[in-house]
Amino acid sequence: MLKNKKTVFFCQECGYESSKWMGQCPGCKAWNTFVEETVSTVKKSQGSGKAYEKKQGPVLLSDIRLSEEERQTTNIGELDRVLGGGIVPGSLVLVGGDPGIGKSTLLLQVCRNLAQKGQKVLYISGEESLRQIKLRAERIGKFNENLKLLCETNLENIRGVLEREKPDTVVIDSIQTMFHEEVSSAPGSVSQVRESTNILMQIAKGMGISIFIVGHVTKEGNVAGPRVLEHMVDTVLYFEGDRHASYRILRAVKNRFGSTNEIGVFEMRHTGLEEVQNPSEFMLNGRPADSSGSIVSCSMEGTRPILVEIQALVCQSSFGIPRRTAVGTDFNRVNLLMAVLEKKVGIHLAASDAYVNIAGGMKMTEPAIDLAIALAVVSSAKDIVIPDTVMAFGEIGLSGEVRAVSMAGQRVAEAKKLGFHTVILPEVCRTSVGKETDMTLLYAARIQDAISYIRKIQP
Ligand code: TYD
Ligand code: MG
Repeated sequence: MLKNKKTVFFCQECGYESSKWMGQCPGCKAWNTFVEETVSTVKKSQGSGKAYEKKQGPVLLSDIRLSEEERQTTNIGELDRVLGGGIVPGSLVLVGGDPGIGKSTLLLQVCRNLAQKGQKVLYISGEESLRQIKLRAERIGKFNENLKLLCETNLENIRGVLEREKPDTVVIDSIQTMFHEEVSSAPGSVSQVRESTNILMQIAKGMGISIFIVGHVTKEGNVAGPRVLEHMVDTVLYFEGDRHASYRILRAVKNRFGSTNEIGVFEMRHTGLEEVQNPSEFMLNGRPADSSGSIVSCSMEGTRPILVEIQALVCQSSFGIPRRTAVGTDFNRVNLLMAVLEKKVGIHLAASDAYVNIAGGMKMTEPAIDLAIALAVVSSAKDIVIPDTVMAFGEIGLSGEVRAVSMAGQRVAEAKKLGFHTVILPEVCRTSVGKETDMTLLYAARIQDAISYIRKIQP
């Protein structure tokens, strides 16, 4: 075997490779993320890693037959939705997220459901001992004998076990603890993580095993983040959420077998993760009744409308430069909307501090919430109380016009379902929204129209 050792520098954020150290990564613009790693360019022993690749020539597209069993449901509706309708056999799914967000818990629940359906499932952990996993499993519920556990970090051993056991689904928790002997750098380094994923990819495709990989998102340190392997896997899911709030959001960032717009909403309970069937109701919990500076808007997350409360607080600034803060939405967008209010509506905000918040810790960047942000700011600045049965959505352009948004009818229907009486929406959506008999639909062509509505419908 020809061995030739050299060192290169990798960005731990995005995996950018460089022969010398750099302060800022040219790839992802992160600072101080380069770490030196030894890579040995070993001529791999014959056949290694290639054993599963079947040699075949080109095939006619029309000759490829699809089998019936395309997708397997996990019995967790929210996860199936994000995956695009269930697990595609032989796919490699990366589940990323901050440590402690609930990745292991979710995947253990998936294992349980698949085992109950009669699949052979193997949970491989490099982080926790068998007893620790058992303790977690006790909290989640009953498990049957189709689920096996393994504590292992050496990928060659794992490959051997998978060849013997031939499971249908495998969970690798986490990719940052796995290592391959032929790579000389430490587990968690960019080259290890990449090589490990490569091997898992070959196993998934060659043996037709569905593999879930856990990847911790790391802020700093010598552990490579999941972004370095996003391009290798079939599906990338990120688990987000405020660690202080109990709900968690599963979002697809890449999906070779489905849409990337869908989200799944979960709540962390003491018995594991529960699906949240109606996120709007969940998000609006504990909303203040009839107070100024608050209005509900609707954002589409994939095919699902979610209602959120937008809050604004505008007060006199005690400093020369007013303070502006946006939590849960785009800061620049909020500044832009305030500039439109200043210039086009004539509301003086230049000497005011303004704080905008999406209640519940949700992150929403869809322009459809523009109108609600603007109305919340006006409501707080002018102390106009907007009744809590009013919902508003619409995009705002730089000349103060209220622009069309997609799926207006669905947003109105969601508001109706949750007991709202009035919806302020763009004039251009008039044709796309059917006649809702028992809802008051107020159409606004310019932002001024919407402001005059909220002045009129005071409680
Ligand atoms: P975990 O799945 O270990 O996170 P990750 O694998 O992403 O690092 O989740 C750990 C957190 O979840 C921990 O803070 C405790 C909490 N938790 C519950 O609240 N209820 C439960 O039933 C379980 C199993 C965990
Ligand atoms: Mg874990």
